[in-house]
Amino acid sequence: MKLEVRGIHKQYANAGAPHTVLSDVSLTVGEGQYVTLLGPSGCGKTTLLNIVAGFIAADRGTIRVAEREVSKPGPDRGFIFQSYALFPWMSLADNVRYPMKRQGVPKDEREKRLDDLLSMARLDGKGHLYPHQLSGGMKQRTAVVRALAGRPQVLLMDEPFGAVDFQMRLMMQEEMERLWLKNRTTVLMVTHDVQEAIYMSDRVIVMSGHGGRIMADLPIDLPRPRERRGEIYHQYEDQLIDLLQQAFVDGERP
Ligand SMILES: Nc1ncnc2c1ncn2[C@@H]1O[C@H](COP(=O)(O)OP(=O)(O)OP(=O)(O)O)[C@@H](O)[C@H]1O
Ligand SMILES: [Mg+2]
Repeated sequence: MKLEVRGIHKQYANAGAPHTVLSDVSLTVGEGQYVTLLGPSGCGKTTLLNIVAGFIAADRGTIRVAEREVSKPGPDRGFIFQSYALFPWMSLADNVRYPMKRQGVPKDEREKRLDDLLSMARLDGKGHLYPHQLSGGMKQRTAVVRALAGRPQVLLMDEPFGAVDFQMRLMMQEEMERLWLKNRTTVLMVTHDVQEAIYMSDRVIVMSGHGGRIMADLPIDLPRPRERRGEIYHQYEDQLIDLLQQAFVDGERP
């Protein structure tokens, strides 16, 4: 297993009354799998991803990356936030160099990886541009290749297509699939969008709105590159909408 999450518990003390966000959450992601976490707002998806990244400590449970237990952030995990979080004062190329510099990748190797990544993301010749000079799609591709530059074992993404309009979102999903098909990095991604989950994932893990439990772990058996149509696609859609409704109802329980 590339990523193993076992028995994670997390409580927050809200004005004295403890609020259980995650209770006994376990999941695994196999080498080269694309797995999404789907669930209603507030069910604990971001909290879980942040625990996996090492940004938040769990009360109990363990995270293993390539069989090694981790408790702090490290270069074995790349992270993409909802807002892309590129450094606005750095050029596109310097954004992508940044994780490699931090890891002490030698200059020649760094520049070679940079060229390969920019060409993979169809950003050749754009390295000198600054984030404010990039379109939304270019920013997102930069964020993806920056996260890949450090050669992480696992790529963690929190609603990476969340902040854009519908057309752009579809385009970004297609770009992401294309990049991933070239790269096959192990991915754990958060979304609350059923269609996005089906389009992107090898497996969809559905979280309940009540006490942060895993309700279902559904393999998506559709050929790639994916199509957003067809009987099987719509069967998955119905199944996930039902699960999500149930997850939402669970969350309304006291
Ligand atoms: N630092 C914190 N202190 C107290 N409660 C918190 C904290 N962070 C998150 N929570 C609570 O934990 C719950 C889960 O939050 P989380 O951000 O993980 O949800 P989510 O599933 O990512 O939701 P969304 O889909 O809206 O992004 C929420 O009820 C939230 O209010
Ligand atoms: Mg969230």
